[in-house]
Amino acid sequence: MKLLSLKNKSISVSVLVLTLAISVLTLNGCKNEEFGVGPVKEEIKLAPVDANLYTKGEQIFAAKCVACHKFGSRLVGPPLKDVTKRRRPEWIMNQILNPVEMAQKDKVTKELFAQYLIQMTFQDVSQDDARALLEYMRAIDEGKVAPKE
Ligand code: HEC
Repeated sequence: MKLLSLKNKSISVSVLVLTLAISVLTLNGCKNEEFGVGPVKEEIKLAPVDANLYTKGEQIFAAKCVACHKFGSRLVGPPLKDVTKRRRPEWIMNQILNPVEMAQKDKVTKELFAQYLIQMTFQDVSQDDARALLEYMRAIDEGKVAPKE
């Protein structure tokens, strides 16, 4: 009896270890997929929306993105309203920084490409610019600023 319960214990410990290993692996896989492909590989830590940062993002958006995007309706590309609610911040930044490879490899961007039939092009933005653009989209989605359209 004693031997049996000891055996049971070690079996349940191995099952536990195995389950943990599998969930860590799958979680990692999901995380990477949700990040998309590109230079942003670490989690972006979000603080409350920063007015300086989103004002910078608003200027970059007006110069480099309005030719193809509006917020409330489709233009050349998809409407960007609520994009920060449907995608991860890291994914959004990779989409901005690495749109061509995203259209080839990322599941979501591939679907958008198939739908819009135009590939988003890289707009010569830095990682800091992409972060500011993300802040601008967050500010819009939280109602802190209205899109100019
Ligand atoms: C030449 C037109 C074009 C320009 C310029 C452009 N985009 Fe795009 N964008 C697209 C298209 C088209 C897609 C859909 C994916 C694809 O087909 O490559 C897209 C997708 C996106 C998405 C994902 C939308 C979603 O619903 O998930 C984001 C975010 C985005 N663009 C942001 C930007 C930002 C920010 C800029 C400016 C730096 C920009 N885009 C410039 C055409 C453009």
